[in-house]
Amino acid sequence: MAQLEFNEELAAQMEIVYSRRDILRRRALVHDALGALPGDRVLDAGCGPGFYVAETLERVGPEGSVVGVDASEPMLALAAKRCEGHDNVGFEQGDVTALPVGDADFDRALSVQVLEYVADIPAALAELLRVLRPGGRVLIWDVDWATVSWHSEDPGRMQRFLAAWDEHLSDPSLPRTLSARMRAAGFEDVEMQGHAFATDDVSEESYAGALVPMMAGFVGTDEAQEWAAEQRELTERGESYFACIQFCFTGTRPA
Ligand SMILES: C[S@@+](CC[C@H](N)C(=O)[O-])C[C@H]1O[C@@H](n2cnc3c(N)ncnc32)[C@H](O)[C@@H]1O
Repeated sequence: MAQLEFNEELAAQMEIVYSRRDILRRRALVHDALGALPGDRVLDAGCGPGFYVAETLERVGPEGSVVGVDASEPMLALAAKRCEGHDNVGFEQGDVTALPVGDADFDRALSVQVLEYVADIPAALAELLRVLRPGGRVLIWDVDWATVSWHSEDPGRMQRFLAAWDEHLSDPSLPRTLSARMRAAGFEDVEMQGHAFATDDVSEESYAGALVPMMAGFVGTDEAQEWAAEQRELTERGESYFACIQFCFTGTRPA
């Protein structure tokens, strides 16, 4: 099965999903860990619909600037619209393994749930290191999909569904190896923090509930639709449960 394609339809779905409760919580955690300051130049590598770019603009103020890079044109269109009216923001279409920006141009760089889609992790990390100034800080956030614990009255179907969903990205368990790979790429002060996203109400406001239609659409089988219907029913009956761990990695380019 091919990876997820970030086309116009998916970009529009993600823009809605990214306004919901658990993603708001995730963005607050990211902003705290990145610690952008007034005047900073910040890169968002894989900026998607541009929520981080818009919010970071508020943090860096008129003296700072933000650049968003993404491979997907529809995502960039949404991001540019979200940031209309700012003259200290730029967007570039490009790949995280060949970032279309200069050496040492940024004080901070973030890449949230992007590297799990990337096959060549050493190339992406080398690029993130290259574009930071000496002493600059990187933040990388990814999910270990193997930590998903998700209730179903048909555990066999759940297992088959999650195995099919794992194919939507390059490495479903990237966090397991990322600290070591960041150090190998040349980052120092590498730290990892795990954040549990757990709920007994898999409604649209939860991380998992928001993703159910997208996940079922990607897997694309009759069984996937049955899986999604069961999740809706369990939620209506007050019997749903989902938990997973999402990981935040930070590091610095040596001064
Ligand atoms: C799950 S979305 C995350 C968007 C954004 N970082 C956020 O958290 O709001 C993943 C994004 O990564 C982008 N992407 C995936 N692979 C990429 C690559 N190799 N280079 C640049 N962007 C990529 C997709 O187009 C998509 O916008």
